[in-house]
Amino acid sequence: MENLKGLILSGGEGTRLRPITHTSAKQLVPVANKPVLFYGIEALVEAGVKEIGIVIAPETGGEIAEAVGDGADFGASISYIHQEAPLGLAHAVLTAEEFLQDAPFVMYLGDNLLRDGITDLVNAFRSSEPDALILLTRVPDPGNYGVAELDGDRVVRLIEKPKDPPTDLALVGVYMFAPLIFEAAKAIKPSGRGELEITDAIQWLIDGGKRVESHTVTGWWKDTGQLDDMLEANRLVLEDIQRRIDGELVDSKVEGRVVVEAGARLERSVVRGPAIIGANARVTDAYVGPYTSIDAGVSVSRAEVEHSILLAGSSVSDLGSRMEASLLGRNVKLSRGDGLPKTLRMIVGDNAEIKIP
Ligand code: DAU
Repeated sequence: MENLKGLILSGGEGTRLRPITHTSAKQLVPVANKPVLFYGIEALVEAGVKEIGIVIAPETGGEIAEAVGDGADFGASISYIHQEAPLGLAHAVLTAEEFLQDAPFVMYLGDNLLRDGITDLVNAFRSSEPDALILLTRVPDPGNYGVAELDGDRVVRLIEKPKDPPTDLALVGVYMFAPLIFEAAKAIKPSGRGELEITDAIQWLIDGGKRVESHTVTGWWKDTGQLDDMLEANRLVLEDIQRRIDGELVDSKVEGRVVVEAGARLERSVVRGPAIIGANARVTDAYVGPYTSIDAGVSVSRAEVEHSILLAGSSVSDLGSRMEASLLGRNVKLSRGDGLPKTLRMIVGDNAEIKIP
């Protein structure tokens, strides 16, 4: 199969990660200090898909285009497709018709992460040339996803976020389509939530007797749309990092698989991996525990942080109790006045400034 294109969906609203996503795209929230979206682009390029269109929304599209550029950094050619409103995944496909033309394509949801990439799945699609290939995985909470019903290997029914899920097989956010999907997307009507659902478009293919294949994802998969999923994705990615210390350690101890980027400086601190400390970060009289990503230019002093993500430019000091399972936006300042120690757990937007009494 020649000429396979890539379509990454990075529009949408990101309501569930607010307030972080009030001011910036959820697809740019970093996992192990790299925007989620970059993992998707890399997975496509690795699978040999280098002509990529990214669907963007008016509010966050500029920021995405600025972060990603024309694709040269990824060895790809990237163009941007403007979707005026988040009217559904099938609507996004229709918006991209001019870019995709009559090429078969891989559609990748910009907030999804797959541990093992998609190369094997793309190759399976290339060799068997079905009308659609979907990826499935078992989840404990199928009601939050599109859910598939199978008859043997055959997909018989897809339902978007069912109240009463018939199986625990969730649709992973990577799909492969022949151009027939345009006809399907044009034939369906908006769902109860007012979106043109890709699940309905695929169901249209199934009902018309077209070939819809499914593959089961074996490595981990995460939709990072919510705080806990984001922290879990961060944990899973950090689980695979290799130790590398390029920054400066002063009277500090770095245990296990830790990355300390160039320009970072640790003083009288302990970092216990897996963890990553970004470029020019400052960690002073502090403890950074497992599954923590400290982004570029962050400062942590006289504080303990664990299982958290701190975005670029934020600072945390004198907490008096350990911060955990938290996500801090860019340039957030968090410090403690006088008072009793309490556990802290919070999601804080960009540019916020917090003092705990
Ligand atoms: O993550 C897997 C799930 O993704 C599937 O199991 C569901 O069947 C599928 O509908 C989708 O559900 P979500 O509720 O997670 O979709 P979300 O609204 O988060 O959108 C996914 C990505 O697509 C996200 O990066 C935003 C982008 N998007 C979304 C819409 C609705 C667009 O670019 N345009 C849109 O109109």
